Amino acid sequence: MNVSTPKQDDRTHAAPAPRLILGISGGIAAYKSAELTRLFVKAGVNVTVVMTASAQQFVTTVTMQALSGKKVFTDLWDADIPNNMAHIELTRGADLVLVAPATGNFMAKLTSGLADDLLSTLCLARSPNCPLFLAPAMNREMWDHPATQRNVQTLLADGVTLLGPAPGDQACGETGMGRMLEPEEIFAQAMPQLTQLAKQAPRQSINETQAQAILSKLLSLKKAVVTAGPTFEAIDPVRGITNASSGKMGYAIAAALRDAGATVTLISGPTVLPPPFGVTTIQVKSSSQMLDAVEANIEGVDFFFAVAAVADYTPLAPKAQKMKKSEQNITLALVPTVDILAKIAAKPSPPFCVGFAAESDNIVEYAAKKRENKQIPMIVANHAESAIGADDNAVTIIDDQGEHVIPRARKADIAEKIVAHATRLYLAAHPTRPVVATKR
Ligand code: CTP
Repeated sequence: MNVSTPKQDDRTHAAPAPRLILGISGGIAAYKSAELTRLFVKAGVNVTVVMTASAQQFVTTVTMQALSGKKVFTDLWDADIPNNMAHIELTRGADLVLVAPATGNFMAKLTSGLADDLLSTLCLARSPNCPLFLAPAMNREMWDHPATQRNVQTLLADGVTLLGPAPGDQACGETGMGRMLEPEEIFAQAMPQLTQLAKQAPRQSINETQAQAILSKLLSLKKAVVTAGPTFEAIDPVRGITNASSGKMGYAIAAALRDAGATVTLISGPTVLPPPFGVTTIQVKSSSQMLDAVEANIEGVDFFFAVAAVADYTPLAPKAQKMKKSEQNITLALVPTVDILAKIAAKPSPPFCVGFAAESDNIVEYAAKKRENKQIPMIVANHAESAIGADDNAVTIIDDQGEHVIPRARKADIAEKIVAHATRLYLAAHPTRPVVATKR
């Protein structure tokens, strides 16, 4: 085992700038968004502007780009974003989405989860950790209309925060409720929450973000096999030995690899999870079936993630008929199963192997020992009791460089970081020019 890793430690960050997505939908108040952008930028906020097609009728992308100092996004199919995932990429790097102005039409789309352009899609795709603020702006009759008022109630119930609107003179010459708050008022209301959210947010560093971007391009030509879930070792037709495992972490790893562009085969023991979209999923039951499936699919594979909780023992002689109970003690003869991960890692040209260790005590020490024993470059250690079945997890990655703590987060986010880490190690061990994925 001789895998080198990049030198930088990207786990420490100095007072990160809050990251705001400023959405602009198509209303006359869009001109105020220019001043709003300026206020946020002046306060040290990293502002990414996303505009709808109608918004560009009122204010140009050139203006917003000059004020935010960054590229303005308008297109779901932006070629600068890996895998055409602009709606995912942008929100995963944001602390807050603020849409100002939010038109009546835009609010109506949000209430029913419509996603027909970049701004509406990213509002739908954002994680629960990234709140949505709207600064409504519309004619007073539109604001007072029962449909809009119904939409307001729906949005509030969905956890959306409304800033305004205010009463006053309107662009159309009428007076009433529906005027967008002034940029200073929106800034004053949003900034404290944005600062707070930025402090709390576990975030990817620049290095990790860059690694993820490289990974997205590189993995579009890579293959991965993932094992997940428990195995079930039959004692007789209705009884068996199994491990506690929901499969959630393995399925999340498969999805993260897929999102990074890899061709993924997921070999899953019995779980209640739906097969992930875009992943070839092979359902197995026992450890020997899992081994067979892995061996049948491992040829030419670049990454092997052994996330499954494989039974360490299996009955020596499972019964063909259901055993009848008696008052007597019985002894069950068990034989060790094949260690699938160790077997794959021992191949002459193994894929990059990642093991997982769920421990109840001495977590890092035991996991490090397993990494050594199985001769694998990377293992992910976690606390068995708090991880199994949960939707979130905290893990420690162990590699040649030592320990890398990933604090508690949703399993999908943890999986993304694990895949990014594995890719960095893989890239260091296979230094080739990344291949740029073509636009679909
Ligand atoms: N693993 C495997 N095949 C097995 C057993 C384990 O592929 N028959 C893989 C798991 O998927 C995981 C890692 O090995 O990646 C876990 O190592 P292991 O030594 O099996 O851990 P435990 O089963 O938890 O070992 P122990 O019971 O001794 O703690």
